[in-house]
Amino acid sequence: MSGLWSEPQTAEPVANVRHLLSTTPWTRQHVERLVERAEWLRQLPRRQRLQRLPGRVLATLFYEPSTRTRLSFEAAAIKLGGQVVGAENALENSSAKKGEALADVFRIVGVYADAIVIRHNETHALVEAARFSPVPVINAGDGTGEHPTQALLDVYTLIREFGQVDGLHVCVMGDLKYGRTVHSLLQLLASFRGIRVTLLHPPSLGLPRPLYLQLQAAGLRMETGHSLASVLPHVDVVYQTRVQRERIVDPAEAAGATAYRIGPQELTWLPAHARILHPLPRVDELDPAVDEDPRAAYFRQAENGLYLRMAILDDLLGGDEG
Ligand code: CP
Repeated sequence: MSGLWSEPQTAEPVANVRHLLSTTPWTRQHVERLVERAEWLRQLPRRQRLQRLPGRVLATLFYEPSTRTRLSFEAAAIKLGGQVVGAENALENSSAKKGEALADVFRIVGVYADAIVIRHNETHALVEAARFSPVPVINAGDGTGEHPTQALLDVYTLIREFGQVDGLHVCVMGDLKYGRTVHSLLQLLASFRGIRVTLLHPPSLGLPRPLYLQLQAAGLRMETGHSLASVLPHVDVVYQTRVQRERIVDPAEAAGATAYRIGPQELTWLPAHARILHPLPRVDELDPAVDEDPRAAYFRQAENGLYLRMAILDDLLGGDEG
């Protein structure tokens, strides 16, 4: 990553989007410039509070649980010299409990804060409501829809681990139906060259058909794998995900999920250069016995999220003092 550490031109936004709701508008050029900014921020003194966002306030509204996304965004804002207000468990602890519409929430919070990071329980609820926000809205996960900043940090991780994304063979594995991180990641991968994707999932947890068709139309090369033993020896990356049991209504949907676990046996099938990514949290699909293997990149991935989210906030909120 050397050679990337120059101060970015804050006057020129990385991605010319008002809100960050989806990875769909992102190109590889946008991603590469954001990564460049993350690398620059990363090498600044770790314990120093930067003055990139003086006087700026970030609001974090989480209607669903989170550890990584909420805390890394909040830490990112604070490290950049900004401040944070927020509602955790917002379904219970905000006026959503009284039935307030999301459009009104954005209208109000957008007066108090300079950007809003929101995780919402309803798929695609943010797109319409964000029109009412006077400040940028960042999607931190919307139901079974998308999780775009996770995908950006996933690609950042691929760049750090492999030097580039083009040409990688990526196996996405687990719950591809409800796993929103996969939805955003595949859309982002479609903007890179020579990517090959193998989908490996329980029979009822494949990609939603409209998304599959959209990715196909975008030129992403995808195939469906049949077993870990036949797929893992040929991949560069395994992107493992947990089954989203909280979203499954019919338990039959998760039938066969236990076959999609990674442990010491599965590790023997992976090439020496390969990497295992996982958005976390994990439950039982990723054995802790794998953690010390150098191919296990998921804790490095979570750390990358801090710098990538610093870069997002720096891009959206840094710059003029107005
Ligand atoms: N990867 C991710 O979104 O983690 P959290 O649910 O802890 O934010």
